[in-house]
Amino acid sequence: MKLKPLIFICFSCFIWCSCNISQNEMRQVVDRGLERAVVQSKLMAKSLWDEKDKLPRTIGKDGKFVTSPARWWTSGFFPGVLWYLYETTADDSLKLYAEDYTWRVRDEQYTTDNHDVGFMLYCSFGNGYRLTGNETYKQILLQGAKSLSTRFRPTVGCIRSWDWNKKVWEYPVIIDNMMNLELLEWASKQSGDSTFAHIAQSHANVTMKHHFRPDYSSYHVVSYDTITGQPEKKNTCQGYAHESSWARGQGWALYGYTMMYRETKNPAYLNQAMNVARFIMNHPRLPEDKIPYWDFDAPDIPNALRDASAGAVMASALIELSQYTEGEFSKQCLSVAETQLKTLTSPEYLAEPGTNCNFILKHSVGNFPGKGEVDVPLTYADYYYVEALVRYKKDILKDMSVSR
Ligand code: GLY
Repeated sequence: MKLKPLIFICFSCFIWCSCNISQNEMRQVVDRGLERAVVQSKLMAKSLWDEKDKLPRTIGKDGKFVTSPARWWTSGFFPGVLWYLYETTADDSLKLYAEDYTWRVRDEQYTTDNHDVGFMLYCSFGNGYRLTGNETYKQILLQGAKSLSTRFRPTVGCIRSWDWNKKVWEYPVIIDNMMNLELLEWASKQSGDSTFAHIAQSHANVTMKHHFRPDYSSYHVVSYDTITGQPEKKNTCQGYAHESSWARGQGWALYGYTMMYRETKNPAYLNQAMNVARFIMNHPRLPEDKIPYWDFDAPDIPNALRDASAGAVMASALIELSQYTEGEFSKQCLSVAETQLKTLTSPEYLAEPGTNCNFILKHSVGNFPGKGEVDVPLTYADYYYVEALVRYKKDILKDMSVSR
């Protein structure tokens, strides 16, 4: 080889290495994160084995483990963690746990009084069906999609998120609701009934129109007038202020439109996901380690709390978005996701074995204004962290010892 090309290659490698995390290092990050996730999740699964009506939720203000019944919106996440860990290890004890914890959520297929059916069923039964093809799981998911669809109102074009606070919000739709559309897209393909996809896409289109500011940051709650179908209020519930950018909400928006592009190949959804990603990745108050403050506009930045759950949701979405895009933008998505995974896998966020009530990650923020679940582990932070690690392993490292 001539000297000049050799120098050029060395120089390019130097530039690449100095601003990216090497594949070797990322392999170690992924292995360490998944190994710890397996240890913690087995301990967690054992601890609730005999209490069949309970699922892990968080740690309370008194430092004690908090569980939830299947009815709570986070019930599907721990079963989902177990399925992902089974997928990547082929460890049959994890499969046994995954089946047991998934089954605990089965009655939610009939839930019609909130929009969280997608979270509850798709993370649990959805992953279970993907990995096992269990016909019973499929029927439960299809029933869940029917239940969720009852909350769609054509005049508004969206699924109603919440039924509480009726004096304030006539028809509240929260950005989180984008996540529940994955169940409907799945149900449409599985059943051949295009109604599910129509509902999902109408919801995504109306949300794209009304939920975003010109800089592509998202409101948390948009309430609609049910006669005119137009927004009547743009508010927050879990963010700092109505006009602030609640971090996890930005994560739901990013993930939601990336997923809708995967499901439909509609370029408008890809464009939306890219714009939301730009808002997040180029934000001057996104810290160097890429784990966001709980709200991008929290008044006490840089002393504000970080939200590991938002970082995990964003990492998982950015890995996927990097696969649908090209050039510098795709590289930036991957680089931010890598930094997020590296940070979450550091001792600051990753729990030591047997600590943290057996949750995997520390330092998430559930509802800061409501003074609920502040700077604690959250089962959904664990879910999106493990999902992101598995995605990275499969899609970027192309390493899946067990391929299903
Ligand atoms: N979906 C509720 C939350 O993100 O806190």
